[in-house]
Order: sequence, then structure tokens, then C-alpha cells
Amino acid sequence: MKKVLTYLKSNQTRFVGELAEYLKFPSVSAQPKHSKDVKSCANWLANHCRVIGLKTKVVSTAGHPIVVATTFVKRNSKLPHFLVYGHYDVQPPEPLDLWKTPPFQPRIVDGQIYARGASDNKGQHFAHLKAVESYLKTGTPLPCEITFVIEGEEEVGSEQLEPFLERNSSALACDAVVISDTGMPGKGRPALTYALRGIAALELLVHGPAKDLHSGIYGGSVENPAMALCVLLAKLRDARGRILVPGFYDRVVLLSRLERRQFSRLPFDAASFQKLLGSPKLFGESGFTSNEQRSARPTIEINGLTSGYQGEGSKTIVPAWARAKLTCRLVPDQRPAEIAKLLKQFLRKICPPTVRLVVSQGHGAEPYLVSPESRAARAALHALKSAFGSEPYLIREGGSIPIVNQFKRVLGVESLLLGLALPDDNLHSPNEKFDLDCFFGGMRMGAHLWPELAEAVRPSVNGR
Ligand code: BES
Ligand code: ZN
Repeated sequence: MKKVLTYLKSNQTRFVGELAEYLKFPSVSAQPKHSKDVKSCANWLANHCRVIGLKTKVVSTAGHPIVVATTFVKRNSKLPHFLVYGHYDVQPPEPLDLWKTPPFQPRIVDGQIYARGASDNKGQHFAHLKAVESYLKTGTPLPCEITFVIEGEEEVGSEQLEPFLERNSSALACDAVVISDTGMPGKGRPALTYALRGIAALELLVHGPAKDLHSGIYGGSVENPAMALCVLLAKLRDARGRILVPGFYDRVVLLSRLERRQFSRLPFDAASFQKLLGSPKLFGESGFTSNEQRSARPTIEINGLTSGYQGEGSKTIVPAWARAKLTCRLVPDQRPAEIAKLLKQFLRKICPPTVRLVVSQGHGAEPYLVSPESRAARAALHALKSAFGSEPYLIREGGSIPIVNQFKRVLGVESLLLGLALPDDNLHSPNEKFDLDCFFGGMRMGAHLWPELAEAVRPSVNGR
């Protein structure tokens, strides 16, 4: 282990340079204009994995390719096998004018590397790659086999990954999945995430008149679809932050007293939280703390709202249509298809006859909840502690990683969520960054993880 850690330390500068190279690819999965960049990014990553010494292939799919890189030449079935999952695709960088420097020209300021994808997720899985490189390049035997599965569609719903898992379920059969694609409560405060929210996406299109109309000549005699849409949206939630869709909460599992007590022990300061978000005042479902609201309670969010004239100056029209993109974040035991259905039914019921509403259903993912007390989870906690030097927190997170449920269903294994992002890393926002100390800590965690995990899944003599 000493050799491994020394290697990590003495190569830090090179690793940062390599990460910067990786961050230059605008691998924006949502935007067709970037599909070539997504591909080049996959190829760069695959090549990098080969240089590290991993047997690597780029698997093409109906969407963006998946990079698969493994330590084994031929599977040695005596050793445990772990998957490391990550994604090389990134969120769209817009709005560009809010970036202090361009999103795909990485820069380092005060020990932070700024670029779209720095923490979500390139920097995080790159730390794992570097940890494995360190074993391979120092000739330190790994106590397990490791396969990296780095996909290019996480930010758009991971549609191609599930069929890929199904097609390759025997090669990917493993003891656990390791994922660093979540956060930690603060610098030097590592955490194991034991729950993620699920998601259900919907798009509402409200049609009014057949074309944009002069709002002076016709306005007042015809429904304005933007207004109608706003009225519909306003009926989804009350002033106390409670969702008004009938049946929405039916399957929600309440937090236990113990969990609420754990939540209350997390480092949290309302004033600095509010400052971080830059919002005039915090808001959320009443009766719950901010940390509970954003990770253990379900929500409906408007992600996008469009209608009428958006250009400079004014244009006096009654628009022909209005559109809203919505997502619900879900908690155990809510089901995405069911929630989407409830929402559709409710919207149809309350939609006035003066407009025509079309609801289309988007991607969905189940919420995830796993025991933080399994042997593997305890091993991961040890690795976190060794790497960061302090006792790890157990946390729930509000974001979603759709594929964790498929790992469970198809491969029958749980995921260990060992996030490295800080609350101020600006995931999905302008000026995304990754703290280099988290990067280095993540590498050390990766190094400590494999012996711990291999030991944890080894069947013990008395068969327990
Ligand atoms: N890395 C995030 C998920 C995340 C971030 C979980 C922070 C917990 C804490 C991931 O890349 C992501 O953004 N997922 C999407 C999934 C969606 C597109 C289906 C999300 O949560 O919006
Ligand atoms: Zn993301």
C-alpha cells in the first residue's frame, strides 16, 4: 500500500494535467451537435485506460458509446470482482455568459479545477482510474479484479446502459459496484451515500390558437396558453410546499426517528446554505429540514418554461403554444411510471377546455436505498476514513443515478456511493469545479478501497 500511495503523491501534477486534457472534450450528451465530441471523448478515455494497463474496449450502442476497461486478461474466478461505474458525458454548459472562463478550457484557481464535467463526473471516476494505475504501475498485486464501465448517457437517462448490462451480464458479474458520482457534506468530511432520489420526467405542451395572434386585436377573446399553463402549474403545489396531485404521497416511506436524528447531526448552517444558493429566502415542504427536503422528500420541479416571444424588446402577441419541462424527484417507495400517470390524470382533469394539453412522458428512475451496514459498506467507510482522515458521514442525496437500480436488478449487486463533490462545486451550473484535494483524497480512497472490499466480500471460514 505504501508504494501505491507514494506513487499517487509523486504523480499528482501529471494527474491534474491529464484530468485537464480529459475536461477539454465538450462531451455534452444532450446536444446532437456534440455527438462527435462525445465520441472523441470516449476514444480519449479508452486510450488512457490502455496506457494505464487496462484491457479496454469502446462499445458502440444505439446512442453514445460505453468505455469498458478491465484489469483482467482472463477472469481469475478466485478473486472478487468489482465494477467502477462513471460517466464521461456532461450537462450542457449554457448559459455561457455566466462562466468566468470557457467551460471546456479548464483552469485552476485556488486549488480548484474549473470546467463543465470537472466534478460531474470526469474528475470523480478519474480518481479511481489513477488509484488503479498506481497499483498496476508499481507492480502491486490487486486483491480483486476491477472493471470500469464509463458511459456517455448518464445525463440523459442512461437508456443504452441497461441493455448493455443485460447483454454482458456474465462478463460483468461482480460482488459490488463502486460509484463516485455524488457529494460529501464538506471539505475533509467524507460520506457514504445510502439513498438517492428517483426521477420522473414529463413535458407539457399547451396549444392555444393555431398561430400567434395580435394581442390587441384578439387578446381577451381567446385563451392565452402561457397563462393557462401557469394556472395549471400553480395547482401542482400549495404555499407550504406540499404537492397537490392526488395519490402523490401514497407510497412515500416516512423517515424514522433515528434517521431524522442522524440528519440533524449533519453539518448544516441555514444562513450559509442560503448564501450558497443565492436565493432571497429558503423554501421547502413545511415540517422538514432543508437536508430532509432535498434528499428524503419528493418534489415537482419546473426545469424549463417556454412560450411566446423571448427576443429583445416587446412583441404584442397571444402565443400559439406554451411548454413546460417538469421532473419529479421520488423517494422510496414511489414509482416513476405511477407518478407520471397520476400527474397526467390530474393535469387532464384540471385543464380547461379553452386549450389543448399534450403531456409526454420522459425518462424515469426508481429511488435507491441500501443498507449502510453491510460488510461492503463498512469496508468502504474504512477506506474513506483512511483517505480523508476523519469519520465518514452517512447521508442521503437528492440527485439520481438511474442505473443503480439496473445494477441491482440485472447483476444482483448493490452500489457503494462514495461521492467526492463539494456542495459548492456547481454541478449542472455555470462555473462547475472540482476541488483538487477531493481529487487526491479520492485517489487515496480508491487505493485503500480494494483491499478493504476484497476482504469484506471474501466468504469467511464459518460460511458467514
Ligand atoms: N452526479 C449526478 C447525480 C448526483 C449528484 C447525485 C449529486 C447525488 C448528488 C448525476 O450526474 C446526475 O446529474 N443525474 C441526473 C439524472 C437524470 C438526468 C436522470 C440528475 O440527478 O438530474
Ligand atoms: Zn449530473
